[in-house]
Amino acid sequence: MRRKFIAGNWKMNNDIHESRELAKNIVNLYDSLNDKRDVEVLICPNFISLMSISQLLQGSKIKLGAQNMYFETKGAFTGEISPNMLKSAKVEYVILGHSERRQIFSETDDIVNKKIKSALENKLTPILCIGETLEERNKKVEKEVVKKQLVNSLKDISSLDAQNIVVAYEPVWAIGTGEVATTEQANDMIKFIRETLKEIFDEKVSQNIIILYGGSVNGQNANEILNKDDIDGVLVGGASLKADEFLKIITYNL
Ligand code: PGA
Repeated sequence: MRRKFIAGNWKMNNDIHESRELAKNIVNLYDSLNDKRDVEVLICPNFISLMSISQLLQGSKIKLGAQNMYFETKGAFTGEISPNMLKSAKVEYVILGHSERRQIFSETDDIVNKKIKSALENKLTPILCIGETLEERNKKVEKEVVKKQLVNSLKDISSLDAQNIVVAYEPVWAIGTGEVATTEQANDMIKFIRETLKEIFDEKVSQNIIILYGGSVNGQNANEILNKDDIDGVLVGGASLKADEFLKIITYNL
């Protein structure tokens, strides 16, 4: 049985003080609950807030993730953050290949592949984001697009390592738009992702890998999404920026 997984992607929001305040509110509300469910909850603040929030999360059930990293460990890469730097802030997860990175910062599958390998080598759990645009869905090539992203991003990764990757299916047209994929659309694609993982790796990997849905998840629709067997969890953007709203999501079925 795969565990459920809920991640908050704060994107480029909140200064250090606001981030700390938000994290404090979430931790206070969540850690006081008697939660016996097998759910992994994490928050992914901006780089500059990571250290402060890392200290705040010591002893909490909530884990820490970053939103990006570079694949080299050190050197002349002005403005970049390395996996070992994230490790030194006690970060456990890192979102890679988010559609905003791909679209705004021209990240290719090849770069994402290098980042995933580097994250794994440095014992960070990568959350690999994939998903089609509206144009691609309208052209009915969404599965082709997602397959290509998967195959290329996971190139030359062993089956053993692959089990430590989390995949997030995030249709670009559902991100920040308020338009959620129907559970049928999400389920259908997630099943397809599992089949593709079986082709790339093997049955074991395809059954063990955690696959999330992301795109306009909120306190109202999270319950239905999280109760689908094929969907192992959610990656939440906008709704993770309000403690009450995020709490509604992370306490589903509680
Ligand atoms: P959203 O973002 O929940 O605001 O749609 C999701 C994401 O980009 O991960």
